[in-house]
Amino acid sequence: NKITIAVDGHSSTGKSTLAKQLAKKLHFIYVDTGAMYRAVTYFALENKLFENQKLNKEKLVAQLNQLEIDFQLNTNTNESQIHLNSTNVENKIRKMQVSQHVSIIAQLPEVRHKLVEIQQEMGKYGGIVMDGRDIGTVVFPGAELKLFMTASAKTRAQRRFEELQTKGEEITYKEVYDNLIERDEIDSNRAHSPLKKAEDAVLIDNSNLSLEEQFEMIKALVKC
Ligand code: C5P
Repeated sequence: NKITIAVDGHSSTGKSTLAKQLAKKLHFIYVDTGAMYRAVTYFALENKLFENQKLNKEKLVAQLNQLEIDFQLNTNTNESQIHLNSTNVENKIRKMQVSQHVSIIAQLPEVRHKLVEIQQEMGKYGGIVMDGRDIGTVVFPGAELKLFMTASAKTRAQRRFEELQTKGEEITYKEVYDNLIERDEIDSNRAHSPLKKAEDAVLIDNSNLSLEEQFEMIKALVKC
């Protein structure tokens, strides 16, 4: 039963952890669409398309067709990693600098159009768990199962802060908290494909739920 599972929600709600494990259990493909928006952002930063925080949209849009994004399996970890023009950028896109610019990039309809097309192609045979912001509303509005994840801002910021610290990133809790709030704000209010819960999505507030407890909830929905 190769269904499509859409996992959307606010930043740092543990979407990817849940989606990844769900895919593993079901032997489905897992796709992290946030990584794709981050890869375009990394490209823009590397190519100096931000001048004093201001994005040169025209230049980016003109270069979009030279941008190749795909996922390749790392045979050591058995996890798929994002590649930008054949270079593995998995670690680079998780840096705070990328988080601080990604929501600006994700507002651009040209960028969204390009990435949504790739996402729909990847998921056309089903058997996929895709996480992002607009999967249940735009990418796969017909998905058989839609989850919408949220948690309190404090919980999310604390989790993300700890994660970044273990990676050795020099960052304060406040910077992480402010970035989450700012991204949610921009993501929810943009003109194109704003972040919102699909009407038929199941809401999961995991502020006080462990991963196991979340699985218990989802089990009943997918019989995994
Ligand atoms: O999921 P993650 O936090 O890595 O996503 C980074 C950013 O990419 C989000 O804050 C949002 O601006 C953008 N995004 C999006 N649509 C998606 C996935 C991510 O706009 N489907």
